Amino acid sequence: MAPISSPQSALSWCIVGRGAIGLLAGARLQQAGYTATLWLKQPDAIPLQFTDLTQQYQQQILLPQPKDQAIARLLVPVKAYDVLNAVAQLLPYLSPNAQLVISHNGMIPIAPLLARLRPAQGLWFLSTSQAAYKPAADHVVHSGEGLSYLAKLTASDGNDSQVIAAMNAALGPVTVVPDIYPMLWQKLAINVAINPLTALENCQNGQLAHPRYQSQISALTTEVCLVANALGYPMEPTATVQRVYQVITATSGNFSSMQQDMQAGRQTEIAAICGYICQQAAQLQLSVPVNQQMLDRVLAKTATS
Ligand code: PAF
Repeated sequence: MAPISSPQSALSWCIVGRGAIGLLAGARLQQAGYTATLWLKQPDAIPLQFTDLTQQYQQQILLPQPKDQAIARLLVPVKAYDVLNAVAQLLPYLSPNAQLVISHNGMIPIAPLLARLRPAQGLWFLSTSQAAYKPAADHVVHSGEGLSYLAKLTASDGNDSQVIAAMNAALGPVTVVPDIYPMLWQKLAINVAINPLTALENCQNGQLAHPRYQSQISALTTEVCLVANALGYPMEPTATVQRVYQVITATSGNFSSMQQDMQAGRQTEIAAICGYICQQAAQLQLSVPVNQQMLDRVLAKTATS
């Protein structure tokens, strides 16, 4: 299946899927004068309603990505378990120096992804705490101002400033960092502490502030720090638990992504969250019983629901 004539311009971004973060990025890119197209299983044009942080409302159209045009700029804001498949499916459509930005919760092995890219193609990771939700399939609400961290994972030179500018428009403010992993470990600790508990208890993040969850939150977070430290990412348990509670307070009215996935009967990201901690701990011969318990309980609940 040979595409492809002229590549998209650097001002056009193709976004995979129709998740809340992808649609938020698409709407904000279009607002900033970029063209955002969608890569969907069913290639439809989406008449999108966008409510921004100031409650201003806009109607936009996001068109499907034309299959006969090489993709030069690709944003992949899909679930951790879908990243490899999504990128593999898009490889034939990418221009030889395409720039890809992946963004997901949890950790996945990056080496298989890097192995599939051509030498001049660039891979980036964007970790975001922007909050968005979809009250309807064609409506995205930007519900909380967050920060995004962006790092380039490849050495290829691909007009980095254009990618950074676009990601600032899409999910900024963006801080560019030389190594994304310290940020990913911080975010992982937050997801380990909040996501499975809110999913199993079927509650909003804020309910985890109740003292009855304190020992579990502390144990889950301390286990993340144990593994991170052993892998060379220094994390101090007391400060990390404090950060978890700051996020619980800042997002108290939100339902976590795992709570939403479990309620909707979808696959969860537990394998890339507690599962990643358990897998790394096993290799390091460390004990992480509370992460293992959360992993087992979430898998058992999603398998039977
Ligand atoms: O996955 C999520 O829901 C979010 O990362 C967070 C920070 C836990 C807030 O809900």
